[in-house]
Amino acid sequence: MRASSEAVKNTESAQGFFAEARALIDARLDALLPKDATEPQSLHAAIRWSVFAGGKRFRPSLMLAAGRAFGAGDDALLNTACALEMIHTYSLIHDDLPAMDDDDLRRGRPTCHVRFGEAVAILAGDVLQTLAFQVISEDEKLAPDVRVRLIAELARAAGTPYGMVAGQAYDLIAASHESSPEELERIHLHKTGALIQAAARSGAIIAGAKADDTELQALTRYAAQLGLLFQITDDLLDVTATAEDLGKTPGKDERASKATYPALYGLEEARGLAQAAYSEACAALEEISRPTELLKSIALFILERRA
Ligand code: IPE
Ligand code: IPE
Ligand code: MG
Ligand code: MG
Ligand code: MG
Repeated sequence: MRASSEAVKNTESAQGFFAEARALIDARLDALLPKDATEPQSLHAAIRWSVFAGGKRFRPSLMLAAGRAFGAGDDALLNTACALEMIHTYSLIHDDLPAMDDDDLRRGRPTCHVRFGEAVAILAGDVLQTLAFQVISEDEKLAPDVRVRLIAELARAAGTPYGMVAGQAYDLIAASHESSPEELERIHLHKTGALIQAAARSGAIIAGAKADDTELQALTRYAAQLGLLFQITDDLLDVTATAEDLGKTPGKDERASKATYPALYGLEEARGLAQAAYSEACAALEEISRPTELLKSIALFILERRA
């Protein structure tokens, strides 16, 4: 199927935005993370090994896009964007551990525990998590009440019962039996969707959106569908993509009996469900009277991603 010229233009604009956002985010991450030479050196080398291995910077970029759409400036957004990437990278380091998914390739290089040993990898994840909250709590560009709201938002999304860690636990439990469609959606909305929702919402919160703001609620619905879409495409790529494209080992989900969309529905139906999540994400954006074209392009980019 040939993409329409409008779809091509949209994906190109998302690509340009991701490149611009990556430069801003990586520079700020470099400033926020302890240098390799800081003692204890092995810990800081392990953190930088995992953070600066590449990675799409999807969550912090989404946060910048949502924050800008709701009227915030980059100065106010960047530290919280980096905090999101720290939480995400911690989740990847722990996800790859032998006791979890037992992966040895991540972001195109040996995983943190393969390179530095399990104990250091666990600690690197621990530190990335605490540093994320420290960075927000000390961000003088933000009013104290906004910092507290962001910390609550991120803690809820990263933890349990609504967040990523709960999702990781559901993911492990599901490997021992055949999952229902409801169970599978619950896994994906928690392990991946919660942090992606928090990313979009944090941008709007920094821009001043109040909890009962109907546009913040619409943005939340957009991001929930985007998070589901993101994990469905991750599941699909595990079946269809190469290690070179992914920077991680494909085919692992089937070997580990993971509950995934292609395993439950087959490739074609899983692609249809990804398309449905994309359409629902776009429908939620219709309820926002702000410049949301970039957010729409980002959703299309995720629907069509090959890596
Ligand atoms: C991988 O996330 C883990 C999932 C939640 C699917 P990404 O695909 O965003 O990984 P990086 O950050 O680009 O390496
Ligand atoms: C990971 O899901 C979700 C996280 C919270 C890290 P996966 O286990 O599918 O992620 P990958 O495929 O290893 O990146
Ligand atoms: Mg996993
Ligand atoms: Mg994994
Ligand atoms: Mg995966």
